Amino acid sequence: MATRYTPPGSFKSPREFRQRLHEINLEFGCDDHIEADGPLAESLTVAGRQVSNRFAIQPMEGWDGQADGAPTDHTRRRWRRFGESGAGLIWGGEAIAVQHDGRANPNQLFINPASDNVRHMADLRDTLVAAHQAKFGVSSCPLIGLQLTHSGRFSRPNGERLEPKIVYHHPLYNQKYRLPDDYPVLRDSELEQIRDAFVQAARVAQAAGFDFVDLKCCHAYLLHELLSAYTRPGPYGGDLANRTRFLRELISGVQAECPGLVIGVRLGITDLPPYVADKNGVGQPLDYHAHLPWQLGFGMSADDPQRPDWTEPCQLLSWLQAWGVALINLSVGTPYGSAHVQRPAAYPPSDGYWPPVDPLVSVWRQMQAVRHVKSLFPNMVLVGSGYSYLQDYLPHVAQHEVRCGHVDLVGLGRMVLSYPELPADVLAGRPLQRKRICRTFSDCTTGPRNHLISGCFPLDEYYKQMPIAAQVKEKRRATMERFLTSPDAVE
Ligand SMILES: Cc1cc2nc3c(=O)[nH]c(=O)nc-3n(C[C@H](O)[C@H](O)[C@H](O)COP(=O)(O)O)c2cc1C
Ligand code: SF4
Repeated sequence: MATRYTPPGSFKSPREFRQRLHEINLEFGCDDHIEADGPLAESLTVAGRQVSNRFAIQPMEGWDGQADGAPTDHTRRRWRRFGESGAGLIWGGEAIAVQHDGRANPNQLFINPASDNVRHMADLRDTLVAAHQAKFGVSSCPLIGLQLTHSGRFSRPNGERLEPKIVYHHPLYNQKYRLPDDYPVLRDSELEQIRDAFVQAARVAQAAGFDFVDLKCCHAYLLHELLSAYTRPGPYGGDLANRTRFLRELISGVQAECPGLVIGVRLGITDLPPYVADKNGVGQPLDYHAHLPWQLGFGMSADDPQRPDWTEPCQLLSWLQAWGVALINLSVGTPYGSAHVQRPAAYPPSDGYWPPVDPLVSVWRQMQAVRHVKSLFPNMVLVGSGYSYLQDYLPHVAQHEVRCGHVDLVGLGRMVLSYPELPADVLAGRPLQRKRICRTFSDCTTGPRNHLISGCFPLDEYYKQMPIAAQVKEKRRATMERFLTSPDAVE
């Protein structure tokens, strides 16, 4: 039977919540009071620009672009709300595929050679800035990046079917997604073409007025998979220098073609072996013991891939600093194999599983990685991820982490879908609007997993009123029922 963990919002005070953290041996702190002019309101200099506070909006895709890669009104609304949040930094907006075959779904925005990409991207940026300035004044403007991606193994450009572009064979992902062992691996020349497409996309971002590009290197997509291509022969596989060659070449390419454009990297710093639901619906890793020493992921211990090993990620981070990358956003896990750490949640999405540990443990896994990196690289500008599960205590924990110098900017993912004004409320000293706090129902993931758009169907009226909201709700109900009627679930 799956264990139900008490969500943070059920604790009546920061003191009670700290008590729970203590009981489960988690070391992160939670301040008693939020100070409107406190650590979260401090400005920060990033690549010579002032960022006015310590909130960052994480990239959040909506599966709602047009077939030709252009944004829709749903996309514009999301970006408008990002602007209204008052956050000082917008990390990427959402993942934009650098070419059609790298789209994660047929509605992902992409750089389409047949389209006016600069106009589309500038439209999103301008929408965000206008919404921000309407609320916070024309002299205020967040630092805004565009996230560039190729979905690699998780490309699904044309419909519901996966059309993977892999850089090496991963036996456990092959097993999970039924990929034959002779499935073609991308050739070096194909990788070089993709690298050039990234550079071209960076040109578009610069022409559209973005301050920086994020070269997305997390969540099992192409650039992330390259970091663990131990078994790949040739220049892009093997030792760490080879596994990071693509990224190095890409950074040089962007620097050469887009002088002055700031570069950021969202890096998956550690992972877990792919998890699946057991007969009770609880997440368990696929059996990985036949694959030890582990060479099928980045930042994972070779003896025990359930444990992080930050040696290589820290080596890469020191190189990224030397190569001129100005800001880093750390993430852990993937939405496909280890969603319980990547987006800790009280309720699983329809393709997911009940969390095998208290989601707070997963929040800590993310936070601990950031703390470790910050202690080694005090001058690196770092954004942390995975805070939304903290619910009512997100600002208290965020303030604690920033005050202690463990992180520079606190990234908000799902929370910004349900309650975009949370940063503005915190910074103005207003009480939190409790009804709008993300309760991690996972419907924003369940929608896309069923080839529907994403959005906060339970809490955002805009999505709640849509006819497809009933479909998403039904998927959630069916997921719960499936788990509750699984054979050993009844005690
Ligand atoms: C609906 C949805 C869309 C997402 N889209 C992206 C994306 O485009 N790029 C990205 O790097 N991460 C994406 N993520 C991951 C988030 O940026 C974030 O890392 C994750 O939700 C954990 O943070 P949170 O606890 O604040 O939600 C997405 C997550 C969700 C739920
Ligand atoms: S659907 Fe809404 S409440 Fe549920 S996880 Fe997403 S943002 Fe949070």
